[in-house]
Amino acid sequence: MRWSISTKLFLVLVAISIATVAAMGVSARISFTRGFIGYLNEQSAAYADSVVVRLAEAYKTEGSWRFLHHNPRAWYRLLDNRSRRERDSPPQFSEVDFSAVHLRLTLLDADKEVVIGNRNIPSDTPMRPVNVDGRTVGWLALIPYQQATAAADVRFQQRQLTQNWLIGWATVIVAALAAWWLSRLLVTPLKRITAATHNLASGDYSVRIPVTSKDEIGGLSEDFNRLAQALAHNEQLRRSFMADVSHELRTPLSVLKGELEAIEDGVRSMTPATLASLQSEVTTLNKLVSDLYDLSLSDIGALSYRMTEVEIDEVLQTTLAAFQQRLADRGLKVQTDITPSVPVNGDEGRLQQLFNNLLENCARYTQTGGTVRVGCRTVNGEVLVEIEDSGPGVPADILPRIFERFVRAEASRNRSHGGAGLGLAICQNIVEAHGGKIAASAAPLGGLLISIRLPRLRDLQV
Ligand SMILES: Nc1ncnc2c1ncn2[C@@H]1O[C@H](COP(=O)(O)OP(=O)(O)O)[C@@H](O)[C@H]1O
Ligand SMILES: [Mg+2]
Repeated sequence: MRWSISTKLFLVLVAISIATVAAMGVSARISFTRGFIGYLNEQSAAYADSVVVRLAEAYKTEGSWRFLHHNPRAWYRLLDNRSRRERDSPPQFSEVDFSAVHLRLTLLDADKEVVIGNRNIPSDTPMRPVNVDGRTVGWLALIPYQQATAAADVRFQQRQLTQNWLIGWATVIVAALAAWWLSRLLVTPLKRITAATHNLASGDYSVRIPVTSKDEIGGLSEDFNRLAQALAHNEQLRRSFMADVSHELRTPLSVLKGELEAIEDGVRSMTPATLASLQSEVTTLNKLVSDLYDLSLSDIGALSYRMTEVEIDEVLQTTLAAFQQRLADRGLKVQTDITPSVPVNGDEGRLQQLFNNLLENCARYTQTGGTVRVGCRTVNGEVLVEIEDSGPGVPADILPRIFERFVRAEASRNRSHGGAGLGLAICQNIVEAHGGKIAASAAPLGGLLISIRLPRLRDLQV
């Protein structure tokens, strides 16, 4: 069965109210038996003490209990604690005996044989000794008042039951009102969120929920709006990425197709030069596809990273050594300032890929005869790697977007040596997966300065 939140709220509130009423009824009953009957017992005990005094006086005068044998009149006179004058006037309310105490008293002689009074004495009945001249001459038994009389008990219960019914109905009505009000307060915004989620799930990323309160529901609405915004943004990124990818693939493919058709039609002959041109288009395609693959791998995030303790300066030295020849061929001078750095938590293969991409950019885009400077040191407990070159660098209007996918400086759009603009996006993914930061700025040498900060081992592990 599917119950709405309002029904559930109503049932819970009613259940709580009924439980409270029942608990109050039970506690009232307990305090009645404990309190009122306890009071009656105390009253009788005080009364029995006064009877003991009168019994002792009577025994002293009479010399034995014989005067009480089969003499209820004398017994009742002894039990009466009013003065002789009071006995002639009608009894006051305070003197009315609620607990029928005179029916619960029994006099026993020194050998505990019943002299007069109630003969049904339970075994645990307390006995008061009657002492005359230091000798116990008898016992007064007071049978405890166990329960109120049955009639009073039943009346009390009935009154309580009627009262509980009234309170019960009142609470059901109050609970219904409270449930109605609460469900209006809770369910209405929830319904709005449900409808919006439904729209979002069916692809409408423009839905937003008005935030009307500062409570959890308000927080949920805000989060929902943020989620919708993020989804819309991602969707837009995905579309432009797909457009860029297909554009990048189409260009070399159509060049290839055109050249192959020209050869087929006999417009061009199959010379080594034509072959080299075809080769170059294939190389561009190959590079693009492998960059896309790298990007998707680095995008997956920490899952595809195998983190170990890595010395950044060593990784940098290894990569530089591999690039030495390539940089020399381009006529570039290399300056290094690599000091032993603190170990970081990293994936050595990915870090190598990071430095490869950056040095490859220097080799590609730095003017012949220029300088490449590579530095590595520890700053504020972080490893700081700086790779810079002597120019021409990146125009200031492109610099802030240089890490975005497919972003290239206009000057290098020339396909002969430029890539698709994915390398720095891959670099950013790698650095961020290591908990670090990457930034691009104008280098003092005149070209582009890429600085990378990687947190040290200890900071990542906490
Ligand atoms: N050291 C550099 N000097 C000048 N321009 C650079 C340098 N590094 C990168 N760039 C510019 O940034 C663009 C993006 O670089 P990158 O993301 O590595 O893509 P790709 O190298 O595949 O074009 C490059 O196309 C280039 O225009
Ligand atoms: Mg590159």
